[in-house]
Amino acid sequence: MPDDSTTLSSQQWISKDQASLSPSYTRDFPLVISHALGMHLYSPEGKQYLDFGAGLAVCSTGHRHPKVQAAIEAQLNKVWHVSSSDYYEPTQILLAETLKRLAPWLGEDAKVYFGNSGAEATEAALKLARFHTKRPAVVSFERGFHGRTFGAMSLTASKPHYQAGFAPLVPQVFHAPYPYPFRDTLSGVDAETSTHQCLAYIEETLFRQIAPPETIAAFVVEAIQGEGGYIVPPDSFLLGVQAIARKHGILVVCDEVQSGVGRTGKFWACQHVEGFEPDVLLSAKGLASGLPLSAVIARGGVMDWQAGSHASTFGGNPLACASALATIALVEESLAENARTIGETVLKPALEALQQQFSQHIGEVRGRGLMLAIELVENGTTPSPKKQEAVLQGLFEGGIVAVGCGCNSVRFCPPLVVEAVHCETLINALKSILLTL
Ligand SMILES: Cc1ncc(COP(=O)(O)O)c(C=O)c1O
Repeated sequence: MPDDSTTLSSQQWISKDQASLSPSYTRDFPLVISHALGMHLYSPEGKQYLDFGAGLAVCSTGHRHPKVQAAIEAQLNKVWHVSSSDYYEPTQILLAETLKRLAPWLGEDAKVYFGNSGAEATEAALKLARFHTKRPAVVSFERGFHGRTFGAMSLTASKPHYQAGFAPLVPQVFHAPYPYPFRDTLSGVDAETSTHQCLAYIEETLFRQIAPPETIAAFVVEAIQGEGGYIVPPDSFLLGVQAIARKHGILVVCDEVQSGVGRTGKFWACQHVEGFEPDVLLSAKGLASGLPLSAVIARGGVMDWQAGSHASTFGGNPLACASALATIALVEESLAENARTIGETVLKPALEALQQQFSQHIGEVRGRGLMLAIELVENGTTPSPKKQEAVLQGLFEGGIVAVGCGCNSVRFCPPLVVEAVHCETLINALKSILLTL
């Protein structure tokens, strides 16, 4: 369908963009998207791209899923905006109830706060943790990513340029180590020992020498690190963080902004770890299939702040909430299961077969469900950002969009509607690129 976005060429749009938009956007590819549908993106010239990035793990139900679109259109005919500081609105209430049902361990008296982005969810959780515990400090983890606003950026420890030039950051934020099973094993430290060392750092170094536990409001931790490299920690790490937290009255905030909403095959990635029951969950990205929405879901009694303590004009927008309700229905009906089966039985085994064939280039295949990554290396071990770039560019030239993570990994986080045939296209393209490295 012709529209304004097809009247200029991609190159013309890029020139106009460069003249008017902030240069802080990274823009890895010269891709102008005029429209999108299902698993595909289209340029103004009509070139089709297979989307293995989903707008950075956002378009969970694929682009413009008909059921999600219908829900948004139905809401368009009701109300577009309600200030949740002032009035009540049904889609918000229904969504809060649904999110509570999806996190039953938080209790029937759990409470939900809505924002517009992952960073806003992180900020809200930071404020909440300080307010609830009356403690000033928080602990996050090396390689973690939680957003780009001041609090979220201060918790983030994945790349120096996220913070360069913006100091002073929020004080009383401490970073603890997070296991990296592939690299730890290469350096001769098995998963159990590495977990032990990470947890020992918290109790023996951080608590004894830097910040006593009674000053710590929360641990903010990703169940699977996203931006940091799609790193799945041993279960014992998350359970160990929780045990330390429980011992000292510290909240566990689990950042599921990237890993939640069915992406890993369960609704929340933390549900893969039996017994891990964080006090606060952060959700965003895939929650509303591409409309801006985030949620903080807190155990009963934790959200004890007062009227006026925190709010946002747009948070919990009715169109976004309607989209989220339709998204969650699809994820529960079939898409989490699709993420699990396609991830476990199609994509991961195919990536592992590539790793066998190209073990000099692919050091590790890791992840859960449709949160999968390959780590590019020299000689099987040394990190290779150059190969990461070559793979991303090669895929793009072949009409496939994927996203980098860590300093040398490529992540595959397609819409959860992805089919085996799409994975086959990806694997064939990867194979051709790996043959040229
Ligand atoms: C785990 C995690 N937390 C928070 C964020 C920040 O989300 P947003 O970009 O919507 O602010 C991201 C974004 O990539 C993320 O992956």
